[in-house]
Amino acid sequence: MTKQQKLQLLHIAINQCKDCPLYETAIHAVPGEGDVDARLMFIGEAPGRNEDESGRPFVGRAGKLLTALIESIDLKREAVFITSVIKHQPPKNRPPKSDELRSCKHWLDEQLAIIQPKIIIPLGRFALEYFLPQMTITETHGRIFEQNKWFVFPVYHPAYGLRGTGALNALYDDFVKLKRVILEKI
Ligand code: URA
Repeated sequence: MTKQQKLQLLHIAINQCKDCPLYETAIHAVPGEGDVDARLMFIGEAPGRNEDESGRPFVGRAGKLLTALIESIDLKREAVFITSVIKHQPPKNRPPKSDELRSCKHWLDEQLAIIQPKIIIPLGRFALEYFLPQMTITETHGRIFEQNKWFVFPVYHPAYGLRGTGALNALYDDFVKLKRVILEKI
């Protein structure tokens, strides 16, 4: 089976997931999208309303900013892989609960095992927790961490970047650093 076929089967399984109650209130699961051979994987928190309606990750306002950030370092959105730690939208966009994060974790484990990215970019604190559980986004954003199988380069969540110019500038600055990391590491 090719990587593409493995990922397709996995996404079919994610679309049918009933491991936690979030599927009951969501319209669509949002497994993620992008290049199965991507060297970069961007990982957010959970689908919002636009994502729930379309079944696609990061297509709302935060998603448009993420796309602009990716393009700001001369990459194409289609050339990376984009997903979130939670695959169904939490009701009223509330933050995910720890038991939901726990029961959804194996899907991301399996995506990582198939895609085998070189650099992982956790977007905000919930994705950060998966890779660097004891650390905060404030102390880690814009820094590179080497782990067994990949490098981790945390940045603020794009939704935070929409809150003001300080946060937006911090995000763009971190992407400039990310471009340097890509040139050095892969
Ligand atoms: N925010 C996320 O964290 N993930 C999405 O898919 C959309 C918005």
